[in-house]
Amino acid sequence: MSSLRLIQGGRAAEGLPGLLIEGAAEVATLAGGLRRGSAQGDAAVLTGPPTSAGAAADGAPVIACWEGRILAVGPGAELTRTLEAGGYPLSRFARLDAAGGTVTPGLVDAHTHLLFAGSREGELVLRQQGAGYLEILEAGGGILSTVAATRAATAEALEEHGRRWLGEMLAHGTTTIEAKSGYGLDLPTELRLLDVAHRLGQAGPIDVLPTWLGAHAVPIEYRARPDGAEAYIRHCIEEQLPGVAAQGRARFADVFCEAGVFTPDQSRRVLEAAARLGLQPRLHADEIAPSGGAELAAEIGALSADHLAAPSPAGLDALARAAEGERPVVATLLPATTWFLMHDDFAPARTMIERDIPVALATDFNPGTSPTTSLPHVMTVACLELKMTPSEALAAVTINAAHALGRGDEIGSIEAGKAADLVIWRVPTHRQLPYWPAADLVRVVVKGGRVVLERTPA
Ligand code: NIG
Ligand code: FE
Repeated sequence: MSSLRLIQGGRAAEGLPGLLIEGAAEVATLAGGLRRGSAQGDAAVLTGPPTSAGAAADGAPVIACWEGRILAVGPGAELTRTLEAGGYPLSRFARLDAAGGTVTPGLVDAHTHLLFAGSREGELVLRQQGAGYLEILEAGGGILSTVAATRAATAEALEEHGRRWLGEMLAHGTTTIEAKSGYGLDLPTELRLLDVAHRLGQAGPIDVLPTWLGAHAVPIEYRARPDGAEAYIRHCIEEQLPGVAAQGRARFADVFCEAGVFTPDQSRRVLEAAARLGLQPRLHADEIAPSGGAELAAEIGALSADHLAAPSPAGLDALARAAEGERPVVATLLPATTWFLMHDDFAPARTMIERDIPVALATDFNPGTSPTTSLPHVMTVACLELKMTPSEALAAVTINAAHALGRGDEIGSIEAGKAADLVIWRVPTHRQLPYWPAADLVRVVVKGGRVVLERTPA
């Protein structure tokens, strides 16, 4: 039985500045920028010429990394000649054998609620008995029960929890995540969550980009008041946001814009105030019912609109119009959530792709609606329920997810100059990533040019 081994701090390739990844049956580079329309399904794949069993193919694709960045990718013989000629002697490269597997960029999870305390397995049974997600929240369960547990948790406990689940993410090939707060709903706890997320990212190997999600629900102490939601929104804008900005950990701001939670107008006020303080807007939009979320995301130029299981026709029009402009809003779909909530309405991914709206996929990892850390699992659900192709799904968890985090120039594809964040999978083509549900498909994870996880025996 093989197992995955975490390498603390990563192994620099035998002390050498260079790393060559050879022996791949396929490299899905995802080169060429944000994907939309018919390009959503172009994984920009390099393969070698067919070989007889056991013969090393001269033209098989090789990836060269240097000091943490990708230096070049291309057919082996040609690439090694170019390296030597360019002053990168082969003796300065360690070699990693992809053993006939496929290599992809490290996966990017652009929507997670990484940090929380407790668990909510009881709600699964309540939902089986017919209770609705928002009904459970209204009754003081759902997000509110996680808020109670999280407020009582120490930073150390949250950090330990974060390490555990980041380890699971890495084992599924994830190398960068976004992590939301939103289970504090008061300034001290929100700051604690953002600080722990930041520290976990500093410790590595996964990069963690923190998002402030103060407007995730109206907390219990505001619920008795007739103007509770409005009063809490004012608290978010006047007290939480200045504190969060002064702390300097959060990069983004998010709001749960949904009928029965926060209105588009309340969401707009929070996100505009956040943008004035330098936090880029993103949005939980139309998760359960058409709520004006997609329209708002397009209006304010959010980096991404997330969920979109139930956008209105006008909302889709707004996203399609935004996609024609300079800064399209990425539709970050979270189908594992729809699946786990046992809802029938999955996001209209095919319509979005037909209308040139760029589509990303993320886990939404959280204790209520999506307790999964696995992007390959999300790819499976996307293929089965959203009818995305495996190649479209791969673009959605790499280059498009990178763009959803504003990091499309740095990560998400295997191109010269980008960070050397790579996964070697033990399947010969990326088309098999969604095809083996719940399998452990990762052979090696490379982060910033260092081997941070490897399967033993290989
Ligand atoms: O994206 N809907 C809002 N937030 C999360 C769920 C949070 C929870 O239920 O704890 C989501 O589904
Ligand atoms: Fe979410």
